[in-house]
Amino acid sequence: MQPLKSRPVIVLNFKTYREATGEGAVSLARIAERVRQEQGVNIMVSVQHTDIYRVAGSVNIPVLAQHIDAREPGSWTGHVTAEAVKASGAVGSLVNHSERRLTLADIGACIAALKRLDLLSVLCTDTPETSAAGAALAPDMLAVEPPELIGTGISVSKAKPEVVTKTVELVRRVNNEVIILCGAGISSADDVARAIELGTEGVLLASAYVKAKDPYGLLASMAKAAKDSFRR
Ligand code: G3P
Repeated sequence: MQPLKSRPVIVLNFKTYREATGEGAVSLARIAERVRQEQGVNIMVSVQHTDIYRVAGSVNIPVLAQHIDAREPGSWTGHVTAEAVKASGAVGSLVNHSERRLTLADIGACIAALKRLDLLSVLCTDTPETSAAGAALAPDMLAVEPPELIGTGISVSKAKPEVVTKTVELVRRVNNEVIILCGAGISSADDVARAIELGTEGVLLASAYVKAKDPYGLLASMAKAAKDSFRR
């Protein structure tokens, strides 16, 4: 199995899509596992808290939470701690997704809480400037996603390439280690290839995969494009 931080990386965010809930999450994760094994590309799935245990117990690929609350175990009704997602089988979490925004202080606390437990942090940002600010908090990965393109099928790598290149430029001034991804509207192998040609090391996507008529075919083409572009 590829190391957790091998590149290129494809992170599949199942969000709360009906198709990716419960057994749907397991079947989409199994497809991702098959493509990861066949293509040798680092593919991870980010699932709802209620599906972490079920998915992590069904597949041998990295499973991420979509959010954690930076709270110590104790009297925090309704919160989800880093300890809890780890106990369920997650190897990390998204942080600050545009659909689950946090304050800068909470972002720092979440990344620190994940680090303390050797869990992967995938920080989500919206602009090159917030990416540079977030990179200073030393997440393991950083995914820049212009919110206005999310769910549109119009890929950031084609519609707003300058957001991607500027993010890479500003982040690399602050942090040379963080794995830089981009997301929002990523829907084809060509979008993935373009994202990597613009200087990222992978992508974060949701609806194109979850709603695909042939998720295996789409993901296999994306993984091949990622591998071929990353080698260049
Ligand atoms: O987390 C990735 C997500 O926000 C992008 O959504 O549907 O445009 O791939 P989508």
